[in-house]
Amino acid sequence: MTDKIKEKANLKLNGDLYDFDVHEGTIGPDVLDISKLYAQSGKFTYDPGFTSTANCKSTITYIDGEEGTLLYRGYPIDQLAEQGNYLETCYLLLNGELPNQDEYNKFEETINEYTLVNEQLNRFFTGFRPDAHPMAIMCGVVGALSAFYHDSIDINDPEQRRIACHRLIAKMPTLAAMAYKHSLGQPFMYPKNDLDYAANFLNMCFGLPTEDKEVDTTLAKAMDKILILHADHEQNASTSTVRLAGSSGANPFACIASGIACLWGPAHGGANEACIRMLEEINNVDNIPEYVKKAKDKNDPFRLMGFGHRVYKNFDPRAKVMQKICHEVLDHLGIKDDPLLAIAVELEKIALEDDYFVEKKLYPNIDFYSGIVMKSLGFPMDMFTVLFAVGRTVGWVSQWNEMIEDTSQRIGRPRQLYIGNEHRQYIGMHKR
Ligand code: SDX
Repeated sequence: MTDKIKEKANLKLNGDLYDFDVHEGTIGPDVLDISKLYAQSGKFTYDPGFTSTANCKSTITYIDGEEGTLLYRGYPIDQLAEQGNYLETCYLLLNGELPNQDEYNKFEETINEYTLVNEQLNRFFTGFRPDAHPMAIMCGVVGALSAFYHDSIDINDPEQRRIACHRLIAKMPTLAAMAYKHSLGQPFMYPKNDLDYAANFLNMCFGLPTEDKEVDTTLAKAMDKILILHADHEQNASTSTVRLAGSSGANPFACIASGIACLWGPAHGGANEACIRMLEEINNVDNIPEYVKKAKDKNDPFRLMGFGHRVYKNFDPRAKVMQKICHEVLDHLGIKDDPLLAIAVELEKIALEDDYFVEKKLYPNIDFYSGIVMKSLGFPMDMFTVLFAVGRTVGWVSQWNEMIEDTSQRIGRPRQLYIGNEHRQYIGMHKR
């Protein structure tokens, strides 16, 4: 799959005329190739937050923000969540096609080969306080994988890249569960490869060596869908961080650790935790108008967590699926009238009828309902972004691998508009 040059774009600057190739992709906005702008004109473009900037060509994920559609390798997210499973989605994102049964079985066997982590890694956890945020632990231990798996850090060897991708997909649930168990002071649970990916994860989180309890299949299916919904999302902040780290030649484990760090922010993957804290702070549907007013107040830094998106100017399709999972899980658990869900549903209704949110096209995003589901599955709030990271790892490694294979990619090195001091002479301390 490739792009094609559709036409030329012209720019007139200080009397000089420059032209730039306009590239057309499969679907979505065309791009102006301005890579020669500085060489030709001595000028940079300026686009803080990259609202109008494409930093790569990709075949992995497509988002239509106006329509509210999300495609993984061309397949709609709701179909994959409803009809597929997470490991199948991992195969799709990594390899570009859905696996047949034989390919799926081989892939599952491969991932299962890597679910254990080196026993020496256990010692890292004893170094963290029990109340350490699990995202802090994940930043540390995922980066530390570079110190253990030297046979899969040569980024120029496609086979080593493949193994690193598989190791990361396989080990993230194990490490995430270890981070959770550490916070509880409970023994780590080993992976059980006779369980499917999501059930294995839930068992490592909630199982105990003193009992052999069956994992609830409905909850495991819900967990699997949550992982699918989080698997990839084009060039979001954490994926862009992974690509930028990878562009320097950093090893894959270090790159994924950088993605985890970026995801932690409340404007990004930390929004699911922030959203639940917001719903708990609102506490009662009667308080919603006051918080909506705060969210609209330019002088108030408060924002509705789980609302708004850089790309979606319509419903986030993942939020719709997540809302459905939310009702399924709560019904299955017999939780009637969950207070946080009641507040979330009322908040969504009020916000979507408010001009401010309508005009700014602010809709619920993936993080609006995910926290309620994750809480119902038994996870504490500080594990919510860890679950996001577990799901997103396959997107990060797929995008990282695509970047390495892209011969046009070079080290990422943005420039700036300098507004600091002009050249000036040093003044000795005694003269200041
Ligand atoms: C994720 O990029 C991805 O794909 C991310 C993600 C993924 O899967 O990787 O989808 C996951 O990160 C989802 C987003 C989770 N974050 C939140 O829910 C935090 C709350 N949302 C906002 O912080 C915000 O909407 C962002 C960060 C998500 C998007 O920010 P943008 O694109 O920079 O938009 P903006 O801040 O310029 O907002 C545009 C306007 C502003 O008002 P004006 O300055 O134009 O007057 O909308 C307002 C904002 O103040 N606004 C909000 C709001 N979000 C935007 N006002 C109140 N509440 C909000 N949530």
